[in-house]
Amino acid sequence: MALNRLREACDVDLYTGAAAMPREDLAARIEDKQGIVCLLTDRVDRDIIDRAPALRVIANVAVGYDNVDATYARERGIAVTNTPDVLTEAVAEFTWGLILALTRRIGEGERLLRRGEWRGWALDFMLGMELSGKRLGIVGAGRIGQAVARRAPAFGMHVVYTGRARQSDARPPMPEGSRRVSFDEVLVTSDVMSLHIPLTPETRHLMDQRAFARMKRTAYLVNTARGPIVDEAALAWALDERLIAGAALDVYEREPAVEPVLLQRENVVLAPHLGSATRETRTAMSDLAVDNVLAVLSGRPPLTPVT
Ligand code: GLV
Repeated sequence: MALNRLREACDVDLYTGAAAMPREDLAARIEDKQGIVCLLTDRVDRDIIDRAPALRVIANVAVGYDNVDATYARERGIAVTNTPDVLTEAVAEFTWGLILALTRRIGEGERLLRRGEWRGWALDFMLGMELSGKRLGIVGAGRIGQAVARRAPAFGMHVVYTGRARQSDARPPMPEGSRRVSFDEVLVTSDVMSLHIPLTPETRHLMDQRAFARMKRTAYLVNTARGPIVDEAALAWALDERLIAGAALDVYEREPAVEPVLLQRENVVLAPHLGSATRETRTAMSDLAVDNVLAVLSGRPPLTPVT
């Protein structure tokens, strides 16, 4: 177990609260620490880093690290690490789960059935959109974007994508026949559009009113990346105006809060940030974070530094 390995090598101060660690608690407890294993719910900003003069490594248990001020940490000579690769397949599988739930109305259908409102099979009942022959637009061709795209041929979907698809292993990064296009072309032509980019100042509210207005009225948006990439109020507006057919979200602007309008909509699938939540992947993420801490504290380079 990751925690035991850490305990064998270091004095560990473990936070055991059920919810995210309160900020004052983090600030007080980090003062004498050399390393921190933090979660995406911990905001490790300049103020927190300044409270920890002995800090040498910040090991984020997530691939995204927008919760950590990595630029400031670097200035201070502190290593920042994340957990890439080990969660790629889990997030890709989950993304496809959302795509299927959304386009085939699985959540909506189950809610209706549980309310006791199902009147039996009917030819025109709860029709969804078939994936076969449709276009999947991937925004961000990194590891997760590639893993989602790799599964598209199994569903007969054609892939367009933004960003550079770097090859990381022997496999071609994108399925045969995929095309790299502009963000605008993904917006305008996708039947299903899936976000796989990090949250940065440039990507915050990438999906705003203007973007939704350019999508096909029959298109679906899926976000398993970071909540603030989508302007939730703009999404609610787009759904009200019927500018898109629906959306599936695993991440939110102000987690765990969700824009109330979205909670009312049947054509929205809402998951509680479960992308990497498999036993296999969460174990691997914890192990990798601990390995990063142990490497830095023993004077070796971190395994997965963020830059
Ligand atoms: C989860 O959201 C992650 O970034 O790993």
